[in-house]
Formats: sequence, structure tokens, C-alpha cells
Amino acid sequence: MSENNFNSGELNYLNTLAAGLVHEIKNPLNAISINLQLLNEDLQDQDSERDRKMSNRVQLLQKEVGRLDHILSDFLRFAKTPVLHFEKCDINGVIESVLDFIGPEAMQNSIRILKSFDTTLPKCNLDSSVIKQALLNVILNAQQAMPNGGELMVRTYQNGENVFIDITDTGVGVQENKIDKIFQVYYSTKKNGTGLGLPTARRIIEENRGTINIRSEDGKGSSFLIKLPVNYKPEAK
Ligand SMILES: Nc1ncnc2c1ncn2[C@@H]1O[C@H](COP(=O)(O)OP(=O)(O)OP(=O)(O)O)[C@@H](O)[C@H]1O
Ligand SMILES: [Mg+2]
Repeated sequence: MSENNFNSGELNYLNTLAAGLVHEIKNPLNAISINLQLLNEDLQDQDSERDRKMSNRVQLLQKEVGRLDHILSDFLRFAKTPVLHFEKCDINGVIESVLDFIGPEAMQNSIRILKSFDTTLPKCNLDSSVIKQALLNVILNAQQAMPNGGELMVRTYQNGENVFIDITDTGVGVQENKIDKIFQVYYSTKKNGTGLGLPTARRIIEENRGTINIRSEDGKGSSFLIKLPVNYKPEAK
């Protein structure tokens, strides 16, 4: 299922165009940021009521400029089409390193991590570094869905020519009428979320010729099922 009507060539062109525009905006934004900083330093030396008010305004502007810069950087990361390096990849190992990474914070939040790995899983022909990014995005969401603790279950298995990764949490879940939205760019229900985590994960997985689907029950938790091909052979260019 796809929500846009562009073919991949057109999409690449639009991405390049948009990334160029973002760069053009980022440069003057940088200049604004530096000058606001200098202005604020000047105002800090004065101590009239008027200067304090101005300094507050300048700080507010600095914050907003910072936010804009953050949004643009996130967009650039999303729009960048990475060159994929396919190699034999140990999926269980990749998941293990993501779980190691989030482990300390999960423990702090009383999240129990349960692993059920198929140790006979074949190595898959994938770009392991981008797949790791995709898995991290999904696993971070699972963690963020359980602010009061819960269980994160990660299972791997093989079925025919595909390897499956099931990431299940006992968190807040997704309302049925919101399920279609969660893979949309910029859809977020979080205070500081950019809404690019899942669209990025899906794009990466699809570039590796896989799929990602969600099953969720509002209030009970969510399950993300990722399917990846064992033997995908990218066409030589
Ligand atoms: N495991 C989950 N449980 C409940 N809701 C989820 C889960 N994963 C995603 N969502 C919902 O989907 C939305 C989009 O997720 P996505 O990862 O794209 O963005 P985000 O997490 O809000 O921000 P970020 O860009 O920091 O990842 C989330 O805001 C949340 O509402
Ligand atoms: Mg996210």
C-alpha cells in the first residue's frame, strides 16, 4: 500500500529538490542564530528592565530558531537516499546490539525484555547498518509506549524465503482509527516526536525488499511484524 502517486524516479527528484531547499534555508538560519546569540550577549551586560525584556524575547527567538533547525535536520536525514551496502547479515546479532543500546533505559523504566531468537536463522543479504536504524526506531517506540513499565518481546523466526521479526510491547497501543496514520510522515502523538521514526523504518525495510505491519489493541499494546528476504539480490547497476 502506498499513499503517494509518485514513481520512485519522481520521488528521488522531489527528495533532491526538497533537500536542496532545506540546505538553502539552513544557511541563513545559521546566520540568524549566531546574530541572536551575539545580541543576547550584548543585552546580558545591560541591566535595565527594557533590556531584560528584550533579552527574553531574543532567547525565545533563539529557541524557535533551534527548533526550526532541528526540524530541518530531521527532514534531511529522512530525505537522504542512502546507498545501500548489501552483505550477509546476522539479524539476531543486529537486534541484540539494539537491545543492548536501549537496555539501561529500559531497566530504569521497569521494562522487561524477553527474547526468543531462532538460533538457526540464515544470514540475510541486507544492509545491516540501515536495518539496525529501522529496528531501533521501532524498538524505541515500543519503549516509549510503556512509560510505566511493561514487557518488550522480540521474536525471530524463518518461514520459507523470509525471516520474520516480531516486536511486541504491552504499552498504550494505537487506536484503530489511528493505525493508518502512524506510518505517515510527521504524524506524532508525542510532545517531542518528529513523526519520522516509523516512515523512515518502513522506507528502509522496503528498500531491503521487506515489509512492516502493525497489529495493535488500544490500551493493551502493539505488535510490529517485519518480514525480510533471506536472499534478495539487488540488481547490479
Ligand atoms: N509501539 C507503539 N505503541 C503505541 N503507539 C505507537 C507505537 N509506535 C508508534 N506509535 C505511534 O505512532 C506515532 C508515530 O511514530 P514515529 O516513530 O513515526 O514518530 P514518533 O515516535 O512520534 O517521533 P520520532 O520521530 O521521535 O520517532 C507515535 O507518535 C505514536 O503515536
Ligand atoms: Mg518514534
